[in-house]
Amino acid sequence: MYKNVAVFVGSLRRDSWNRKLAKALIVLAPESLKLEIVEIGNLPFYNQDLEENPPKEVNEFRQRVKSADAVLFVTPEYNRSVPAVLKNAIDMGSRPYGQNTWNGKPGAVISCTTGALGAFGANHHLRQSLVFVNVPTMGQPEAYIGNAASLFDDKGNLINDSTRDYLKKFLQAFEQWIERFVVK
Ligand SMILES: Cc1cc2nc3c(=O)[nH]c(=O)nc-3n(C[C@H](O)[C@H](O)[C@H](O)COP(=O)(O)O)c2cc1C
Repeated sequence: MYKNVAVFVGSLRRDSWNRKLAKALIVLAPESLKLEIVEIGNLPFYNQDLEENPPKEVNEFRQRVKSADAVLFVTPEYNRSVPAVLKNAIDMGSRPYGQNTWNGKPGAVISCTTGALGAFGANHHLRQSLVFVNVPTMGQPEAYIGNAASLFDDKGNLINDSTRDYLKKFLQAFEQWIERFVVK
């Protein structure tokens, strides 16, 4: 039986490299992992008043996170940190108090940028929030994908062999990481 992995992309841009990367990961994943992108662009900004009567999108999002076996974040870096839309999604899934939907789900982070530094800042700021929402996040291997624009062809296919091999290894390690948290 496969594990269902909810994938969160930290960019809403139509031609996002991170989304292309997430789509490549869906294809590269081993059979034991079923990756699916969970949309976060339709969520309102978090406001605690929402909890009085949460909109449908919020309830559906929380339910979707709850039903995932594991969570994978694929994110660019904005000003050396996590894009607001992704932080918003994390906040949304973490409330109301006492009903944190992220709780205990094994996770992994891949950061991806057109820049050369691999979005290290976003990757590690994200990890800080994940510690608090209790997502045990894989430490190794790390994935800082730089120079993203050179890795894909016009149709969005991943054309860089070494990146493809690396991502496969990353996903295999993630599969083993997820296994560790299966209650037997
Ligand atoms: C507001 C903003 C801030 C950015 N800050 C950074 C940054 O700190 N580090 C970096 O490597 N790239 C930065 N970039 C460039 C993004 O990495 C680049 O636009 C990337 O393609 C965004 O990911 P996407 O293609 O998935 O939308 C920034 C872009 C924007 C729009």
